[in-house]
Amino acid sequence: MESQLEALKQSFCEELGQARTTDDLEPMRVKYLGRKGLLTSILRQMGSISAEERPRMGALSNALKTFMEEAFASKTGELELSSGPAGIDVTLPGRALRKGGIHIINSVIRELEDIFLGLGFTVASGPEVEDDYHNFQALNIPEHHPARDMQDTFYFQQGILLRTHTSPVQIRVMEKSGPPVRIIAPGRVYRCDSDVSHTPMFHQIEGLWVEEGITFAHLKGVLYEFIHRLFGKDVVLRFRPSFFSFTEPSAEVDISCIMCGGKGCRVCKGSGWMEILGCGMVDPEVYKYVNIDPETVTGFAFGLGIERIAMLKYGVGDIRMYFENDLRFLAQFA
Ligand code: DAH
Repeated sequence: MESQLEALKQSFCEELGQARTTDDLEPMRVKYLGRKGLLTSILRQMGSISAEERPRMGALSNALKTFMEEAFASKTGELELSSGPAGIDVTLPGRALRKGGIHIINSVIRELEDIFLGLGFTVASGPEVEDDYHNFQALNIPEHHPARDMQDTFYFQQGILLRTHTSPVQIRVMEKSGPPVRIIAPGRVYRCDSDVSHTPMFHQIEGLWVEEGITFAHLKGVLYEFIHRLFGKDVVLRFRPSFFSFTEPSAEVDISCIMCGGKGCRVCKGSGWMEILGCGMVDPEVYKYVNIDPETVTGFAFGLGIERIAMLKYGVGDIRMYFENDLRFLAQFA
């Protein structure tokens, strides 16, 4: 009888190990522990064994019974956990993955790049940590110019600084390759300034086209096309004479207010115009720094602030919001 109990335990263990779902367990329970089950049928032999042996066989059978019941209980728990349905509502909607988006400034940069690529420009870049030579001197910005003031420029030691505009990329590109040059250069620039319309870091995009026969008419043509593709064909441009050391003649460009169409509103402060960029014909002085003969080519350059474009396009009132990383603001554009 003892060996029968032993064999029963072994086959029980084997079979339990093979159970995959809770549904497999009930038939097993009936088979081993049921009233007509295998354990009961062994216990029926109790009457035929000797009186001395009976207590020990009783104890062994009880122990086996307890063992099997406990094994069932723990196996049931294990299968419920892994095969799941208890307590899990499969009809609940899934948890959405939160995914990031492209920052509004980067997406405006991409839009501008697309427009200029379509006009035959390529994208160039230069270092954000610049030297005085490329940021000022080679752009014909004289020693006493206010832009060079510590108040406006972040300086490191010995003529090294954070570039204050993307114009030094003009110099770096012309140093590397002669005309024809037709590039735009978007990137970060830095100025010691902070209020609703200024942040110490912001973005500009620079444009430069130098080639034989380039005139102010080409400049106007490119800028008109650019503004029309960006803001729509109804926008009118206005060129105002201005001054930049590295262009001659120079102009500032206004566009008719994209909010009111030029009638005058709060955004354009009643004037009907919005200032949007600086530009001009490359000053012959600049060519001297990059070994280009000003008698053989002409060219134009322009530069504009990207945050400003994005503010106009999306009606953002405070430039600092771009960089505060408040997702309630950024997610609107993602
Ligand atoms: N670099 C000028 C600035 O930061 C903007 C600018 C004006 C760039 C005229 C140009 C240009 O290329 O021709 O204020």
